[in-house]
Amino acid sequence: MAVDVLLGLQWGDEGKGKVVDFLAKKYDLVARFQGGPNAGHTLEFEGIKHVLHQVPSGIFHDGIKNIVGNGVVLDPVIFMKELDDLDPFNLDFKSHLFISKKAAIIIPTHRLLDAAYEKSKGDKKIGSTLRGIGPTYQDKVARLGLRVGDVISNDFKAKYEKLKKSHTDILEYYEFEYDLVELEEKFFNAVERLSQLNLTDSEYFVNNVLKEGKSVLAEGAQGSLLDIDFGSYPFVTSSNTTAAGACTGLGVAPKNIGEVYGIFKAYCTRVGSGPFPTELHDETGEELRKAGNEFGATTGRPRRCGWLDLPALKYAVMVNGVTQLFMMKADILSAFETFRVCTHYKLKDGTLTDQMQYDLAPEDFELVYKDFPGWNSDLSSISSFDELPEQLLNYIAYLEEHLEVPVNIVSIGPDRTETIIKTELAVS
Ligand code: GDP
Ligand code: IMO
Ligand code: MG
Repeated sequence: MAVDVLLGLQWGDEGKGKVVDFLAKKYDLVARFQGGPNAGHTLEFEGIKHVLHQVPSGIFHDGIKNIVGNGVVLDPVIFMKELDDLDPFNLDFKSHLFISKKAAIIIPTHRLLDAAYEKSKGDKKIGSTLRGIGPTYQDKVARLGLRVGDVISNDFKAKYEKLKKSHTDILEYYEFEYDLVELEEKFFNAVERLSQLNLTDSEYFVNNVLKEGKSVLAEGAQGSLLDIDFGSYPFVTSSNTTAAGACTGLGVAPKNIGEVYGIFKAYCTRVGSGPFPTELHDETGEELRKAGNEFGATTGRPRRCGWLDLPALKYAVMVNGVTQLFMMKADILSAFETFRVCTHYKLKDGTLTDQMQYDLAPEDFELVYKDFPGWNSDLSSISSFDELPEQLLNYIAYLEEHLEVPVNIVSIGPDRTETIIKTELAVS
C-alpha cells in the first residue's frame, strides 16, 4: 500500500481541510506531516463549521485514525484547546489520535521570538501568523529543540529552562518586552495533558499501517508557493510543504508515495506579505474577497486576491509530481461576467515564458492574460460533473491541457456534500 498526499498548490487556504474530510472515508489513517498551528483547515458538514489547526482533518470519521507526524511543530496549548473545542462531538481520541514523539514542541518564547523578529523587520515583515513556527524549526535544525517525546522525561523542565534562556537572551537583545508567568502556567498544564495522550514512534506506526495493507492520506498544510525551498523566499513558511515533505515528515520512503492530489482555487489568494504577480488591487479583487469570503481561518486577516497564475501552478505541479488535480471554489467565479488566467510572463527583453522567475519583483515582467467567459448561473443545484456549465467545463479542459494532469474534483461550496467528482478517484 502507498501513502497518497494531498497538498495545496498555491499560497495556502486552497480548501485542504474540506477535501481531506471528504476523502478520509477512503483511508485508514490521516497524517499531518509538516507545519503546525499556522494552518487553519476548515471543514463543514451537517450545518457546522470546524476549523482545525493541528488535529488532522480525518478526526470526525469514526474508525479512521489520525496522526500528527514528526515533521510537525506542535503547540501543546493550542492543541489542547482544539481538543477541548471538539469535546461536544464525543470523538474517541484514545483510539483515533496519535502524536509523533519526534514532533517539535513550540514553547511560549518561540512565539515571542516570532513577534520580535517580525517587529525588527520593519516594512519587510513576512506577515507570519506569529505562532512560533519559524523559531521552532530554527531550533530543530540547530539541534537545540524540544520534542514531544521529551515531555515524559524527568529532565523536561531542565531542558525547557535551557532552551528558554537561549530565547530570553535574544528577546533582551531586541528589547522585546514580555511577561511569561501566565504563558508558562498554561504551557505546563498543556504539556501535562499532552503526556497522557498516545505518543508514538510514528514512523513505525505509519509503516505498519502500510504493511497491514491499509491506506494512508497525508494532509499537507500551507501551500507549495510557501515552501521553504521552492516558495517566494523569504516570504515563505519554514517547512517543506511540497510532496517530498511527506517522506521526511512521516518517515515514509519515496517509493511508498502513491497519488499526489494537488488542490487549487479557481482563482488565487495570498495572506501575509510577499510577491503575488496576479494580485488585483482594484474593485475586482475586492469582489473576489467578498464573494469568496477570503479572510484567514487562523488569523482572520483579509486575504489578497487575484486571478489564477498558470506558470506558478505548472511549477507547483512539477515540483510535487501531481497526479490528480482538484479545483476548489469554482462557485466563487459564478459572480463574474468574465474572468482571467495569467498564461505567461513577458520579460523585459520581450520573451514570453511560462517558468516561475527567481525573483517575482513586479517591475521585472508583465503578465499575459487569457480571458474566459463566465457562466452566469448558480452551481448550487449541480450534483454531477456533466451538469457543470459549458464555460466551466471549457476552463477545466484548458487547465488540463496546459497542466497535463486531470482535474478529478470540482468543489462548488464549503460543505462536504458540495463536491463534484469527475470519475471515481484512483486512491492507493
Ligand atoms: P485550507 O487551509 O486549505 O484547509 O483552507 P481554509 O479552510 O483556510 O480556507 C478555505 C475556505 O474556503 C474555508 O472557509 C472553506 O470552508 C471554504 N471552501 C472550501 N471549498 C470551497 C468551495 O468550493 N466553495 C466555497 N464557496 N468555499 C469553499
Ligand atoms: P493553511 O494550512 C495561508 C503564511 C503566513 C505568512 C507565511 C509565514 O491554512 O493553508 P508562518 O506563520 O508560517 O511563519 O507564516 O506563511 N501562512 C499561511 N498562509 N495558509 C496557511 O496555512 C498558512 N500558514 C502560513 O501568512 O505569509
Ligand atoms: Mg487555511
